[in-house]
Amino acid sequence: MPLMMENEVYRASTTAPVNIAVIKYWGKRDAKLNLPTNSSLSVTLSQSDLRTHTTASCSRSFTHDILILNGKEDDVSGHRTQSCFRELRALRKELEDSDSKLPTLSQQSLKIVSSNNFPTAAGLASSAAGFAALVRAIADLYQLPQSPAELSKIARQGSGSACRSLFGGYSAWAMGSAPDGSDSLAYEVAPQSYWPDMRACILVVSAEKKGVSSTSGMQLTVKTSTLFAERVRETVPARMRAMEQAIKEKDFETFAELTMRDSNSFHATCLDTYPPIFYMGDTSRAAVRAVEKINEAAGRTVAAYTFDAGPNAVVYYQEKDEALVAGQFKELLAETQGWETERGQRVQEGGKAEID
Ligand code: ADP
Ligand code: DP6
Ligand code: CO
Repeated sequence: MPLMMENEVYRASTTAPVNIAVIKYWGKRDAKLNLPTNSSLSVTLSQSDLRTHTTASCSRSFTHDILILNGKEDDVSGHRTQSCFRELRALRKELEDSDSKLPTLSQQSLKIVSSNNFPTAAGLASSAAGFAALVRAIADLYQLPQSPAELSKIARQGSGSACRSLFGGYSAWAMGSAPDGSDSLAYEVAPQSYWPDMRACILVVSAEKKGVSSTSGMQLTVKTSTLFAERVRETVPARMRAMEQAIKEKDFETFAELTMRDSNSFHATCLDTYPPIFYMGDTSRAAVRAVEKINEAAGRTVAAYTFDAGPNAVVYYQEKDEALVAGQFKELLAETQGWETERGQRVQEGGKAEID
């Protein structure tokens, strides 16, 4: 029996959908603690087909911490993963110290096996779903009592955008002001059920790894862009307030305009970075025009585009407008110059427009 206990493997699995920001996080004021230069807000739809699945396990028989990402061993020595492991272990240790009957999991090595069912590092928020799932899986394994807000501070240190995924639905990341990051955490603006009509259509135009990671891209923007200061000081704080209001009122037109403007503003600061960063490509711009066409044809704003740090389009719309948006979007893109040939094919292959 003692021998069996020796090799006992404890395990917990979880899954997390991607969250796509409608007010973008772009810029760090503290790279070590991952503290942002502005607050941000995102939508996480539980029906999303784009998700991470993660299993965390620990055992006395494991000799070192290991992360298997999409079937391949990944580096766990980076300070972000290390911060998550360290903080979660410390919380487990507190539990163990208060109850001597608990197994001392905090002293065992961790094995994390994770896979994304969508392209990793391609601008579809894999780091958000990835670190949210990692933190939740380990928190479940350790049976931690901490609230999602508390856990969001740990996920934030893995990847900033991940903190918002600890809540489903409409969630924001308050930038906070404390130097130690204790008030830089996520909060729920509204649950998904508050505005259940919301849908996202995700067009995967490229599954390639982006040339400039979010982490290094935003640091170069902070250092070199002059547009950025205005975005952080005035534009985003005003938009955060307006966006929270629009969500509370379920005012899609305002939600849509703010979403599109903020995506444009974020990509403008990328272009204003020196040397410039191009995340959007011709295909992305064609998607912008397709959305404009859809809105013109409808005579009101029924669709909103947004692009993260990559060329892939996410289009938000309401279910009642599905016929006006989802099918039209694919068709319009296919009609766009040059699309019937090479690009049209790519959209169909890599890209089946995924409808949440
Ligand atoms: P994305 O736009 O996909 O979020 P980023 O450049 O922000 O791209 O982050 C990509 C990095 O996030 C990956 O190189 C990897 O280190 C990390 N990541 C992605 N998915 C996972 C996962 N499931 N578990 C742990 N880390 C992940
Ligand atoms: C454009 O959260 O990936 O998707 O904190 O360095 O891991 P790190 O960056 P990350 O940046 C996301 C940027 C964005 C906008 C957003 O999700 O708010
Ligand atoms: Co990311």
